Amino acid sequence: MKIENYIRDIQGFPKKEILFKDITPLLNDAIARKEALSILVGSLNGQNIDKVVGAESRGFFFGILLAQELNAGFVPVRKPKKLPYEIISASYELEYGIDSLEMHTDAIKKGDRVLIHDDVLATGGTAKAVCELVEKLGGEIVQCNFLMELSFLNGREKIKEHPIFAAITY
Ligand code: PRP
Ligand code: MG
Repeated sequence: MKIENYIRDIQGFPKKEILFKDITPLLNDAIARKEALSILVGSLNGQNIDKVVGAESRGFFFGILLAQELNAGFVPVRKPKKLPYEIISASYELEYGIDSLEMHTDAIKKGDRVLIHDDVLATGGTAKAVCELVEKLGGEIVQCNFLMELSFLNGREKIKEHPIFAAITY
């Protein structure tokens, strides 16, 4: 079973020049989904994790599965104005302009061992902002892991001080 076969290419979404990697076939297949989860968990080599941090919204899918499998807490990082409690925020660059991500201030305790998860590492802006949030609260980043890495966009350069794992590299 190859999880690559459950990632669907959509040419021209959401913009003409983009080749979108659609993970919905992977989510829709129990065996492929289990295989992907086991690859992500295996990459940790048994290292202890206290919190899994997932980036809204596609980082939530496997983020919550990882947290369950690792017996860890799950922390949602969300787009602005979605979280109800006290927040910290980090901004990141988009193709045009700037956006930000937010996390609850009590989500991570100093010294927590943190796994950051997202579906895809592209330019690395999202992952970098998530790392900043975790570090602001004193979390120790054990790994940033992704289902996919678009290596030609060189996102790993932005988070190179942390261990990075991607189940599939394009
Ligand atoms: C996509 C993707 C990653 C991010 C990667 O999320 O799910 O989170 O972009 O890009 P980057 O490495 O260039 O930051 P998007 O912001 O489109 O939102 P979504 O997850 O809610 O679909
Ligand atoms: Mg996303």
